[in-house]
Order: sequence, then structure tokens, then C-alpha cells
Amino acid sequence: TTTSVGIVGGGPAGLMLSHLLARRGIDSVVVDHRSRDEIEQTVRAGILEADSVRLLSETGVSERVLSEGDRHHGTYLAFGGQLHHIDFQELAGASVWLYPQTEVFVDLADARAAAGADVRFGVRDTSVHDVTGERPSIRFTDADGSAHEVRCRYLVGADGSHSLCRHAVPPAELRQYRKEYPFAWFGILCEAPKSAPELIYNHSDRGFALISQRTETTQRMYFQCDPDEDVDAWSDDRIWSELQARVGANGHRLEEGPITGKSVLRFRSNVVEPMRYGNMVLAGDAAHTVPPTGAKGLNLALADVRVLAETLERALADGDDEALDEYSRRALDRVWRSQHFSYWMTSMLHRPHGADEFDLRRQVAELRSVVRSTAGKTYLAEAYTGWPTR
Ligand code: DHB
Repeated sequence: TTTSVGIVGGGPAGLMLSHLLARRGIDSVVVDHRSRDEIEQTVRAGILEADSVRLLSETGVSERVLSEGDRHHGTYLAFGGQLHHIDFQELAGASVWLYPQTEVFVDLADARAAAGADVRFGVRDTSVHDVTGERPSIRFTDADGSAHEVRCRYLVGADGSHSLCRHAVPPAELRQYRKEYPFAWFGILCEAPKSAPELIYNHSDRGFALISQRTETTQRMYFQCDPDEDVDAWSDDRIWSELQARVGANGHRLEEGPITGKSVLRFRSNVVEPMRYGNMVLAGDAAHTVPPTGAKGLNLALADVRVLAETLERALADGDDEALDEYSRRALDRVWRSQHFSYWMTSMLHRPHGADEFDLRRQVAELRSVVRSTAGKTYLAEAYTGWPTR
């Protein structure tokens, strides 16, 4: 097979890129070692930035996000004994949508399938070759065991944080930046009514808690825990009393119900620079991961491929591969700002390792400084709802 753009990774980043390229009349092939089911079962965050939704609607994949998603005009910060509302509409003139990011994958996979796109899930033994040459390629074995090669003009690694594409780059050619966090999130899904009309980002002496949602009857919540916390040590009762204690400190009470899923999510910040090597570029988690506070991961991946579709079109039209450097530059500008925002939200809201009274009081003062300042709240609202793509 030959194609213009070979894409490794059929998650939201890879599929959105393939979709955007198709709209520009550019053909692509997408391969992923996971099955479609496996990707659909990956539980991810639930918030879409205003421009992520705009991108879906401008390109004809918004039917479900607009009908089933929930538009949120703001969010709550809870600390120091009470809830504080941040009004995104008033401060930034924008909203976010609560819509499980896995559903974005489903919508994109359906749209690509309906368009007859070449997307191959469940392939094995994927490798990339001649990355710096004129005709890079992807080799893989399909489900029946037959070997394939896709030759392309440009290769895209949209293959997640363990990215085989990134690993194919000689280490000296990329700079990697990392930040570890000494905590993790304990995430639950439960059958209960909503506990608040919007999300609650909750600071407490016992640690962070995030009260999110999925539907009228299913809710998603998280609380800060140790990275090697044992899921089995947490009964439903113990989880509810921990969550109630954390939000109770700020005068709120949660609606409880049976817990249908429990897991520990570890995280760290990661960035590679540049997001290009030869005729291969990296997009989404393959190039960067952020801590989850603020739900930037998938939004950032969509922002990457929006810029990438445009720069790849230029590169293909006039063989100008300067355009790929421009992609890396423009994408990294947003990546680092998102990295900062996610780090800031994380460090402001989580109980630091070995925290004392000073640390906790300083954090509450920081939160108070944000909500008492229109400038502070506006920064949060602009970053949370998403900066314009440049
Ligand atoms: C969700 C996850 C996040 O990390 C966040 O900041 C907001 C919402 C979620 O899963 O709903």
C-alpha cells in the first residue's frame, strides 16, 4: 500500500488527523495494535474544551457531543470551608462540554468507517522504517498473520505515551522533559444522581478530590491517593467516607450509590522536543503527557492534529518540510502552556508530599488569591476552556 500520510495510532489523535486530512483531500492509512473494543474500553477524562467541540462540529462529527454532551458554563473550586464558582461564560465567553472522551473516539471511528477510510485495528508487530528517507514506511502483521507494508510520504506517531514511533528516534535527536508527582488518583464510577450541576475541584487537608459526572445516573469521582495504593483495600464504605470527608470539609455533601469501577491512575508530565524527526512527526500523548487535573490530555492532542493537518497539507503540496518544523514550534507553544496549567492546578489543589500546616495554608491563600481576583479567575477560565489555536 502507498499513501500520503501513514499514521501509527488509531486513538482520537490519529483518527482526527486522518479525518482532517481527508477533508483536505489527502489520503492516509491508520494502524493500531489495539482492537476497536479495547480502545473504547479505555476510560479517559470527560471534559472537552470549547475549540475541541468546535473542531468536531465544524468537521461534521458533533451530532452526539451536542445532543448527549452537557454544556458547562463554569466549575467550582472548593477550599477553606466553602465552594467558589468560576463562571467561564462571564470571564472568558466560553464553555466546556462534559462528554466522555472515549465517546469522541467512538464518533471519530464511526465517521472514518462511514467514509470508507483505511483504518486497521488489531494489527501486530508494528515497526517504522526509513523515517529520515523520502519514502518512510510502516510494517505490520494483520490479524490473519499476513505481513504488510504501508509506504508513505510522511509518518505520524499518534501512538500514545508508550509510542513506538518515539522510541524509533535515536535518543540524541530528542530532548525529553519529565516531572514525576508523588501522588496518584483513585478513580471511581458509581450509580448515583449528580452531586452538583458542574464539576467540583476540591482542596482539603486530607488531599484533593474531583467530583465529576458522566450521565444523570452515572458519576465519575477521583481522590488523591498514594501511587501504590491497593485498590482492593478500598471498600465502597471506605471510599464514600473518604470522599465525604474531603468535600464535607468545604460544606458539600455527595449523593452516594453503588460503585461500579475502581482504579488507581498514576501520572506524570512529559514533553519531547522537537515533535519531529526527519519525515516523522509525533502528536498527542506520544509527544507529551500532562497530569490529569484540568483534563488537558485529549484536548491537547486534538489541538496538535489541527495544526498538523494544516502543516502536512503545505508540506505535501510544495515539498516544504520546513512546515514540519513549524508544526513542532506551534504545537509546543501550547503544549508548554498546558503543561504549566495542569501542573499549576495539580500543585495548587493536591496535598503536597510531607505537607505541614504552612503548606496547606499557603495553598488556601493561593486559591483565595485566584478567586478574589478577576484577573486570576479569568486566567483559570481561559486556560480551562482552551486558548485559541495559533
Ligand atoms: C474528568 C477528569 C479530569 O482530569 C478533569 O480535570 C475533569 C473531569 C473526568 O474524568 O470527568
